[in-house]
Amino acid sequence: MRLARSHLLLSVTDEALLAGVRDVARALRAALVDRGLVEEVQVFETGDLGIVGHGVVLVVHPDSVTYGDVTVGDVEDIVDQHLVKGRPVARLRIAPRSPASAALAERPRIVLRNCGVIDPESLDEAIATGAYAGIAKVIEEGIAPKGVISEIQRSGLRGRGGAGFPTGLKWSFTAPGDEKYLICNADEGEPGTFKDRLILEGDPHRLIEGMLIAAYAIGASKGYVYVRGEYALSIARMERAIEVARTAGLLGDHILDSDISFDIEIKKGAGAYVCGEETSLIESIEGKRGYPRLKPPYPGAVGLWGRPTVVNNVETLANVPPIVLHGADWFRSFGTRSCPGTKVYTILGHVAHPGLIEVEMGTPLRRIIEDFGGGMRDGRRFKAALIGGAAGAFVAEDGLDLAMDFDSLLEYAAVLGSGAVLVVDEEASIVELLHGILRFFRHESCGQCAPCRAGTARLVDLSSRVLDGGGTEADLDRMIDVAETMQAASLCPLGQSVILPLRSALRSFRPEFEARCGAVLSS
Ligand SMILES: Cc1cc2nc3c(=O)[nH]c(=O)nc-3n(C[C@H](O)[C@H](O)[C@H](O)COP(=O)(O)O)c2cc1C
Repeated sequence: MRLARSHLLLSVTDEALLAGVRDVARALRAALVDRGLVEEVQVFETGDLGIVGHGVVLVVHPDSVTYGDVTVGDVEDIVDQHLVKGRPVARLRIAPRSPASAALAERPRIVLRNCGVIDPESLDEAIATGAYAGIAKVIEEGIAPKGVISEIQRSGLRGRGGAGFPTGLKWSFTAPGDEKYLICNADEGEPGTFKDRLILEGDPHRLIEGMLIAAYAIGASKGYVYVRGEYALSIARMERAIEVARTAGLLGDHILDSDISFDIEIKKGAGAYVCGEETSLIESIEGKRGYPRLKPPYPGAVGLWGRPTVVNNVETLANVPPIVLHGADWFRSFGTRSCPGTKVYTILGHVAHPGLIEVEMGTPLRRIIEDFGGGMRDGRRFKAALIGGAAGAFVAEDGLDLAMDFDSLLEYAAVLGSGAVLVVDEEASIVELLHGILRFFRHESCGQCAPCRAGTARLVDLSSRVLDGGGTEADLDRMIDVAETMQAASLCPLGQSVILPLRSALRSFRPEFEARCGAVLSS
């Protein structure tokens, strides 16, 4: 067999599917057959390449030329001009992602290592790039569950679902019991966040292996992936990967001929933000309305069906196999002392190159925007970044050099949260942005507890008044009062976290709010 001269990587995402990626793939293959190039040029359908807003994205290797918004009508030019004559099609090229693209190439990729590289539907390709080597090591070396937990503890891995709770510690807290459960939280409801989707779609076997190792460590034989219902492609890829893993003896009874038994079921979320909160999620899997439970007891003691349960985020679990395989010290060589490893971010808003990146924990916000987001769009001036989604905080210019990790951000009263970084320029209105966030909270409040139910409604009333120019400075102080009461009295972190965007917006941009309050009086 001749070696392929070129590889064409087609990013198959929901965006690309809507833009006709399947038709483009068919047209490409037909054109290659037509020109007798099938042996030399191979077309691979892969996961998300981290580039958003460009419809069908195609990368030609080994030239590393990236084309965006490709249609069936462009296929002939790509094949005849680029592949046959070696001249890239200038009109379809996407500009280099950033002025410091060397920084992009050099960044460590732990979680996304295979995303956009392997065919996510191929177990062979996953195994060829290291899938299931971690669990194989555990079995071959006879590492006890306690040994796995202590390695994860030593690695310093902290939960990537938002709160940054130490993963090994959480596992160690799991109460004894005959029946335990592991839940992978793939609800991903935080506005502006789609990092977990990339893992589900781009490297599903890594997640299955992460769950398998976690389940072995805590003694669970049943796992659930609670996945956002709108993620049709993620669900399809996970279902297929689970099926293939089962057939290969990597799920089910006596995995790899060991005593380990574990299987995974997928549960689709119905679109409630609060169902991403671990106890609401558990209620939802049990078939009930997604109301949060009072804690304690924590899920580690009383979880799904009343049994000890561990809930971990997708990105957290995706970090587990490489830690087990390469060791805690290797993992600690990335990131910061208290937050080792990397973090996957979605960079959105007024940057030149919105998309997804994985960088070391502790990378300053300025670098994330400039080196990886390509800087501000159209040379505009940075105004603020909302970090961590709706339940996150606004960071102004004075926070650009903050190290992005769970602990450093706390010094600025911000949170890393889900890893969403929404960047806005000088033209953006923080008053309007905050109003949108408060409306989101009112809409998503489950209504079970009064502080959140009434508080979110009151905040939208006050914010509407400010927005319409009829507010007063006392209204701004009242908003803080309401959110502080919600922080103290709400039953779950949804109501408790409204204070974060509110306080941070008023701390850095109060004059803008005050100017809006005076708008009616002065007009
Ligand atoms: C309103 C709300 C929504 C949440 N949504 C998610 C989510 O979509 N995905 C997630 O992993 N964690 C979410 N969380 C956090 C979970 O409750 C939980 O802390 C997390 O899944 C634990 O995983 P980790 O330890 O790996 O971070 C949410 C929390 C709240 C309060």
